Amino acid sequence: MTYQTLVTSLENNIFIITINRPEKLNALNKTVIEEISAAIDEVYNNDEIKSAIITGAGEKAFVAGADISEFLTLEKNSGEALAKKGQQAVFDKIENSPKPIVAAVNGFALGGGCELALACHFIIASDNAKFGQPEVNLGLIPGYGGTQRLTQLVGRNRAMQFIMTGEMINAKDAEQYGIANKVVSQNKLLDETKEILQTIHTKAPLAIAKVIEVINNFDHTQQGYDFEIKKFGECFATEDVKEGANAFLEKRKPNFKGR
Ligand code: COA
Repeated sequence: MTYQTLVTSLENNIFIITINRPEKLNALNKTVIEEISAAIDEVYNNDEIKSAIITGAGEKAFVAGADISEFLTLEKNSGEALAKKGQQAVFDKIENSPKPIVAAVNGFALGGGCELALACHFIIASDNAKFGQPEVNLGLIPGYGGTQRLTQLVGRNRAMQFIMTGEMINAKDAEQYGIANKVVSQNKLLDETKEILQTIHTKAPLAIAKVIEVINNFDHTQQGYDFEIKKFGECFATEDVKEGANAFLEKRKPNFKGR
């Protein structure tokens, strides 16, 4: 599929989605949201795609937020509808993807851009990355899941300060907070991210999908443990678990089929 605001490519089963509005720091307008949604559908539906990377075009920004120029005409109901549609079409769909989707954050990740990175399964950042939720500067709050995902990731008090001050943090601080898993130089960002995904590609795809599902349903009560137990049991209904165990016992590499 071809897109107006995205560039996509498939390399070694990794689908690379590059948001391509560098002149507007890759801000998320209506078209970008619709197109990311369609690109994520490709991740779900194309068997050749085993994982995806979301990144931004240019050296300055991953995504500098929702497109502020679209805010002027919004009122209460349309504002709520914008957030709801975006969350369902893009952010929740990324989070719940059965295939890993990783954010390669190559510059500003602000507002909806920070939330887009947070919706991904993990984040690798370049050394010039900057993260922030500056919505309060505009009289707004995060609307694409920021208050929820960030709080889960960094804890209540850090999330409070981060969102109430609207201040940006650099890549090192983001790594220390646990927002970014790793910080690398910008010229190595995509290669390092691809390398991690290539490692994941050698594992059983159905097990990977269950890891995502169970971690997304993290719940530190008996319910969370019960869900893990159920999904662990389900692994034994796959052909891959037999292949994995046999390969170990026969001292060879497994050949997983995703069945
Ligand atoms: N929505 C719409 N346009 C945006 C944008 C956004 N979120 N972020 C940047 N742009 C546009 C700018 O308006 C500018 O367009 P122009 O050249 O037509 O005037 C262009 O992208 C470049 O941005 P500019 O502000 O000139 O770059 P800078 O290096 O001086 O500043 C930022 C970079 C990221 C600090 C600044 O652009 C900014 O604060 N952006 C908004 C961030 C934000 O509040 N996001 C949350 C939205 S809810």
